[in-house]
Amino acid sequence: MLIIKKDVITSTNEYIKEHYETLDNYTIVTANYQTNGRGRMTRVWHSCAGDNILMSILIKEFNDRTDVNLLSLVTGVAVHKFLSKYLNKLYIKWPNDVLVDNKKICGILLEGKMNNNSKMVVIGIGININQTSFNDDINLLTTSLKKELNINFDIDLLIKELSNILVKEIDEYLNGNTSYIEYIRSNLFGINKLIEFTRNDVLCEGIILDIHTDGRLIVKEKDKILYLNSGEIKIKR
Ligand code: BTN
Repeated sequence: MLIIKKDVITSTNEYIKEHYETLDNYTIVTANYQTNGRGRMTRVWHSCAGDNILMSILIKEFNDRTDVNLLSLVTGVAVHKFLSKYLNKLYIKWPNDVLVDNKKICGILLEGKMNNNSKMVVIGIGININQTSFNDDINLLTTSLKKELNINFDIDLLIKELSNILVKEIDEYLNGNTSYIEYIRSNLFGINKLIEFTRNDVLCEGIILDIHTDGRLIVKEKDKILYLNSGEIKIKR
């Protein structure tokens, strides 16, 4: 596993997508600052220079049965395990976030390229570490290691720790280990809570029951049981 450290780049995901042909499987790219950091649903990912973990990992060796949605859940498990050394009350919010209580500390953005000539997946991870104030619109619902513990962390050291856990977790998943599902089940945010989600562009409400072994979220909507593949959920109360 090679870790390439960049100072300022557009985005670690972007860098890997541009260079993946010449990079090895499991190459990790980190940045101090991203000029075009991106989140899911075309959102912007803001991060003050040098304060946080901004990294992406390239996966080139996987088989046709590899499910990219599961890869993203497995990444959430790795981040949860990594942060558990420092924090309690950590949850995996299906499908892509890690929370402390109900505050977001980590976002995951998975992008892929799959055609006849090439196949690759890049998993981008943003974890708030030493930044303590965020944009007004998200400040109350966002946290960082420092906001929780009032300690400054060495980002390079944390990147090494996380990278080891991440590669091990991904490797195990690609080799058929399914223990991550039980791990998610024990740490799933919002179980038995009322949530809002969109289905075929319609806003719906339901209660989270469980996570299926294939990674879909199991939700009860009135008398129907639904299996959500992707999208975003919002806890109502
Ligand atoms: C989200 O919660 O919306 C996902 C955020 C993902 C942010 C990370 S930071 C490193 C990598 N590079 C990017 O441009 N985005 C991801």
